Amino acid sequence: MNNGFSRQDLKQFAEANRAEFERVLSEIVEIPTVSVEPDRKSDVRRGAEYAARLIQSTGGQVEVYETKGHPIVYGRFDRGEGYPTITLYNHLDVQPAEGDDWKTPPFRFTRREDRYFGRGTTDDKGPAISALFGVRYAWERGIPINIRLLWELEEEIGSPHFEDTIRANARTFATDSVVVSDTVWVSRSRPAQPAGLRGLQGFRFELQTGQTDQHSGTAGGAARNPVAELCQLISECMDGKTGRVKIPGFYADVIPPSKKELEDLKKSGFTVQGFKKDHLYKKLRVEDPMEVMKRIWMMPTFEVHGIAGGYHGPGVKTVIPPKATAIVSCRLVPKMNPRKIVKLVTDFVKAKNPDVKVYAEHALAAYEGRTSGPYADAIKEAMKFAFGKEPVFVREGGSIGAVLSMEKVLKTPVFFLGLSLPEHGYHAPNENYDWSQAEGGMAAFARYLQNVAELGR
Ligand code: BES
Ligand code: MN
Ligand code: MN
Repeated sequence: MNNGFSRQDLKQFAEANRAEFERVLSEIVEIPTVSVEPDRKSDVRRGAEYAARLIQSTGGQVEVYETKGHPIVYGRFDRGEGYPTITLYNHLDVQPAEGDDWKTPPFRFTRREDRYFGRGTTDDKGPAISALFGVRYAWERGIPINIRLLWELEEEIGSPHFEDTIRANARTFATDSVVVSDTVWVSRSRPAQPAGLRGLQGFRFELQTGQTDQHSGTAGGAARNPVAELCQLISECMDGKTGRVKIPGFYADVIPPSKKELEDLKKSGFTVQGFKKDHLYKKLRVEDPMEVMKRIWMMPTFEVHGIAGGYHGPGVKTVIPPKATAIVSCRLVPKMNPRKIVKLVTDFVKAKNPDVKVYAEHALAAYEGRTSGPYADAIKEAMKFAFGKEPVFVREGGSIGAVLSMEKVLKTPVFFLGLSLPEHGYHAPNENYDWSQAEGGMAAFARYLQNVAELGR
């Protein structure tokens, strides 16, 4: 593949437009598009409207699709029939950002040298805007290709209305391929090309054993304690220290990694020390790098996100609470069926503690991606062009609901061109993005579009 966009020219383009990139990222980060919070519904809409205007001002046409939840923004840069059509997917909704660990306000865009702080800077507004600037570069230079931007605002809640919306408008959304920019590299020095994602099955466990708080001095000993019972239940589901899931059959469908995958892991540039530093951990469950990589990318998990119930204030309040809730989820790997996991977990919980109510939440199967073929090669070349190094194939540990839906409904392969780094802090306080990923990202996207245009001829 050989083409006209030079790295030098792209660098100049990025530098010349840096102030504008920062203005746009700042404006969009300051709209708190937290999809999970009902009170933010109008902010999410404001985010969609901002995004629509932004695409228009870049020279595209936009439709905003209403769903039963938050809208979907769809931008079109149409060259005409007979040209290949390529869709770039990002999401513009973000995680909540409560807590005291933020050093700057989460919905205030803060630039410190080449770093940009704020909720959504790296997941996934920064990559979305970087891709948009790459599109703009390619579009203004007359690239012979139709480009579509598919921007979701319900990704962080499991994409509940995405599939229905694209199915109802399948002809409009038709495309020759999709690139998702919503994944993380192994480290700054090593671009990654994801070959798959884990799936996710969420659960809520609820246990009510009383009506109101009761004095543990009068009722304690005889009264049931829902917090203690949920703790016991969770420890029956999994070993808290090792993470091993104890539910019979949980690992039945897990396929061990192939030789090639193990080799890719070895070449990935992953280090335990770097991982600990990026995620602020002193000690892990295991310290062997191969074991850590398998655990974060290729094995299923059972995770407890929170247990609520009883007293949390200062000192000790000697009550017996009436009710407790646990939010848990399982990350799934290819071949694991979310419905089967729901049944397995529900039956197990019922057997251990019949009074616990189990509610299944978002269900996303794992995704097995492609690592070869012209589109995968086009991404590989574009990453090398932009960042100076070929990407390594890894699987990603996270989940993106829209990916399977796009493959299923649009009947087209999905590829990944992620720009986030581990130290950017996905979902964490002080989430950030940086100029070097943004600048490289613009170049990578422009070059990718050019590579695909070449394929089309
Ligand atoms: N961008 C992430 C997915 C991701 C995470 C990719 C880690 C690669 C590595 C996405 O925004 C996300 O957070 N997804 C959620 C989905 C869930 C809330 C339904 C996830 O994985 O928890
Ligand atoms: Mn994301
Ligand atoms: Mn996310």
